[in-house]
Amino acid sequence: GRTAALIPAAGSGTRLGRGPKAFVEVAGKSLLARSVATLAPLVDEVLVALPEGLALPEGVPARAIPGGETRQESVWRLLHATPADVVLVHDAARPFLPEGVVQALLEAVPETGAATAALPVADTLVRGERGRWADLVPRAGLWAVQTPQGFRRELLLRAHAAARAEGFSATDDAGLIARLGFPVTLVPGDARLFKVTTPGDLALAQAVAAVWDA
Ligand code: C5P
Repeated sequence: GRTAALIPAAGSGTRLGRGPKAFVEVAGKSLLARSVATLAPLVDEVLVALPEGLALPEGVPARAIPGGETRQESVWRLLHATPADVVLVHDAARPFLPEGVVQALLEAVPETGAATAALPVADTLVRGERGRWADLVPRAGLWAVQTPQGFRRELLLRAHAAARAEGFSATDDAGLIARLGFPVTLVPGDARLFKVTTPGDLALAQAVAAVWDA
């Protein structure tokens, strides 16, 4: 069957303060171009949801559609813009995407129909209340969820339709599947897949790019 990479990149990048995040450059290359460079050779097509009125940055081998008001709405639109059997949803805000993670996801999707990159939590976790330590959250068995996330497209469409019907919103796609009680396979992610959100993350991205591009 056919495989498509779907990239929600229609955010405004408010927290970063540098305009639409997908277009921000790190070491001379946009965040969007970086993950597309990994994905394009591994899938049949790359589809990107962009802010209304914007075109793809130079040299990004992909097809663009207008995104929506929220990430979830942007993914909903992307899902309708491809006939692919399997889709990989990946945030443009995660520019450093190792090929091995994509391959592991593509191998995992046929097992359950849904899989996500994730990393075991290394930090101590605590619930805070008004700036004070309230209680410890045992970290055993906890994972930090990343993207890419891989799905049988029909399954993810069903989960999105259910979420819309019930007014449920989530920050990722695997959550919409798990919410319906369907299994989601956890595939080892990568520390370099961190999400560029704040100006501090951009400094970290510069440092990673120096090694990544070498
Ligand atoms: O804001 P945040 O970093 O959580 O966004 C995650 C991803 O979703 C980003 O790649 C962003 O461009 C995308 N997004 C989108 N449409 C929106 C809001 C965010 O495609 N309306």
